Amino acid sequence: MRLFVAGGQGLVGGRLVERLRAAGHEAAAGSRRTGVDALTGAGLGAALAGVDVVVDVLDTPDMTTEAATAFFRGTTTRLLAAEQSTGVRHHVLLSVVGADRALANGYHAGKVAQEDAVRDGDVPFSIVRATRFHEVVPLLADLLTVEGVVHAPRTRVQPVALDDVVDLLARVAVGPPTGDTTDLAGPEVFDLDDLLRTALTASGDPRPVRTVGGQAFGAESADALLPLGDHLTGARPFPGRPAG
Ligand SMILES: NC(=O)c1ccc[n+]([C@@H]2O[C@H](COP(=O)([O-])OP(=O)(O)OC[C@H]3O[C@@H](n4cnc5c(N)ncnc54)[C@H](OP(=O)(O)O)[C@@H]3O)[C@@H](O)[C@H]2O)c1
Repeated sequence: MRLFVAGGQGLVGGRLVERLRAAGHEAAAGSRRTGVDALTGAGLGAALAGVDVVVDVLDTPDMTTEAATAFFRGTTTRLLAAEQSTGVRHHVLLSVVGADRALANGYHAGKVAQEDAVRDGDVPFSIVRATRFHEVVPLLADLLTVEGVVHAPRTRVQPVALDDVVDLLARVAVGPPTGDTTDLAGPEVFDLDDLLRTALTASGDPRPVRTVGGQAFGAESADALLPLGDHLTGARPFPGRPAG
């Protein structure tokens, strides 16, 4: 099977391309550094010639609703148009669990607009939503740090290992389009402050964590970022958690 991973040089994309190739598939990676710009459409037609499946793991650092929506809706619209003209038969999107319950965060608003563009499009699709990755927890601590103290709102999270996300994406990409959304979360639910303390302790980082009011990442309630109802659970526990 021939697959094209849009954003295939990124954190998720790089590992996904390796996983697909190891399974014997022909997987190409495309991003601006390989001459494929999904926002302008440059290089997309040539990159998608003969491709069966596109997996979209593009990302942007833009966090305002306007900029994130322009990026996610814009790149998806370009990709789907190129897929239709080249005969791609399955579009797979990676999105974020709970984005639709955390719209005060502009990035999440962009992901919801992206999901809508995929559902409204004409290419058969599968949407995989994952919770925050284990691997980005140290970055979250940095984002929440003010004057050397990590400020953790009372939000609950269920982080998942990147490898579990890649396993699921690889499986979905080579299967038939689901026409639906599949949520994936890790095996444990944490209060965000506990998770950050666990991660900082495991890495020998002395920053204290202070629990504060409000919710993280634009969540509308403490449980908004947890999967609701049916979901898949990753096998890998959060590293560094004390036994017991
Ligand atoms: N981090 C989390 O906890 C989490 C949780 C759930 C879902 N996700 C989703 O996971 C996805 C992938 O995230 P990631 O961390 O792997 O991102 P990443 O490491 O920042 O990679 C993003 C990729 O997109 C490419 N890109 C950006 N703009 C582009 C453009 N205009 N045209 C073509 N390529 C472009 C980048 O390459 P160039 O710079 O070379 O273009 C890069 O390969 C995102 O959609 C995110 O919403 C993340």
